[in-house]
Amino acid sequence: MAGMEELCQGASDAAARIGGGIAKGSLFTIVTHTDVDGISAGTLAFLALRNQGGKAHLLFSPHVYPEDLVRLLSDDPEFLIFCDMGSDLLPELVKLGRDFLVLDHHATDNEGENLVNPSTVGMDGTRDISASGVVYLVASALNPVNADLSHIALCGAFGDMQTLRGANERIANDAESRGLVRRRKEIRLIGRRNRSIEYSLRYTTLPFIKGLSGNPVGIRNFLKETGVGDDPKKTISELDDDMERVLISNLAERMVKNNASTFEAEKLFGATLHVLTGQVPTIEDLVDYIESCGSLGRYSTAFALLSGDPGSLEGAERSRLEYKEKILQGVDLFKSAVHLANIDYLVLEGWDEYAGKLCGIYANAGFSGHQRPIFTLSLDGSNVKVSARTNPRLVDRGLDLGRALKAISSRFEGSGGGHDVAAGAKIPAKSIEDFVRELDREVGLQLAEEEVEE
Ligand code: C5P
Repeated sequence: MAGMEELCQGASDAAARIGGGIAKGSLFTIVTHTDVDGISAGTLAFLALRNQGGKAHLLFSPHVYPEDLVRLLSDDPEFLIFCDMGSDLLPELVKLGRDFLVLDHHATDNEGENLVNPSTVGMDGTRDISASGVVYLVASALNPVNADLSHIALCGAFGDMQTLRGANERIANDAESRGLVRRRKEIRLIGRRNRSIEYSLRYTTLPFIKGLSGNPVGIRNFLKETGVGDDPKKTISELDDDMERVLISNLAERMVKNNASTFEAEKLFGATLHVLTGQVPTIEDLVDYIESCGSLGRYSTAFALLSGDPGSLEGAERSRLEYKEKILQGVDLFKSAVHLANIDYLVLEGWDEYAGKLCGIYANAGFSGHQRPIFTLSLDGSNVKVSARTNPRLVDRGLDLGRALKAISSRFEGSGGGHDVAAGAKIPAKSIEDFVRELDREVGLQLAEEEVEE
């Protein structure tokens, strides 16, 4: 795999630096992002350090901006490790004068000995390896025994919508050979191995199925019409193959009829993993619990669940149900989306932790009638936080949200970036109207450029 050897070399050099820090007795501060990949990456880094006898603090932060860096020094960390963030902060981090590493997968033009990032070696960090995967490579170089944490790296990858290709494929081989996971090709709803069909349909929000997600009455009618659910207690995995096929085809048909992208409908079925360690039976359940806990700010529950703490499942389940309730309230706000020529946008207040997820549902589940990218603008004091999502069809037509937000936010003294399908930014609130206008223009230009090239 192109770039993999170089990335492993970078991971190995980083592991040597961490090993040196542990030998010196350095206090490590791990700073990680709060989405599923970030939480998995930070947990993996922390557990790997602990396995080596290292002393570490683990901090979860939705974003770290240049102005936040000084605050990170208040605990006087001797060695900072940034997970799933920090690539674009490299010049500022150097100025802090501390030992540090950035273990990330976001595209960046920066490079250097402190950075382990697939984009610096020509690999695709959006699709082939997550930040958790990068941390996993470092952890395995630190001590091969950390291959026992490979399922956590896979949780990060699935959390970032990645599949078992590229480096993720190798990590899945490690996990499978250790009996931590088993590969499957099957329906990918949560709860399918240990909950009723009704539960699976009600609480699955990836994919979000209009009319069924969060709608018990709709589900009961659907089960009656399709003849799938004669026994309300049955799990999906107890259905026979024919009935499972009937369920999948009816769900897919309903989604496509409701304007969901085929990409979203394809999430219903495919290559997936049963998790054989801990109490959570599938990778989709694990991702869903971590996402629920993370969105509610319950990072210690997420950490405990990933670490295999047997007491953590009850709290994670409570968080799941609470989180789903919030998501449904958020979906209700889609009615107020504003439609411009090339983009849709939605102004939110008090939805910070949900903005990215809501954008994802809007962009893929059939809410964007005109197939445009969606931007949420969340007011935060004198600033606005922006989340953006689109579906792969627009990416194929040339749209790169990370590039768009990086370019436009810098024109307004803001900062932004991310991936082609999912990106974010922060800009001063006073510029919001001009910002949205420029963004609309930029998206139009990107899509037109591609049409001209074709
Ligand atoms: O915040 P949200 O989940 O919408 O961010 C999506 C992506 O955009 C993430 O990968 C994040 O790292 C990136 N982002 C960024 N700069 C920001 C905000 C988000 O690069 N100011």
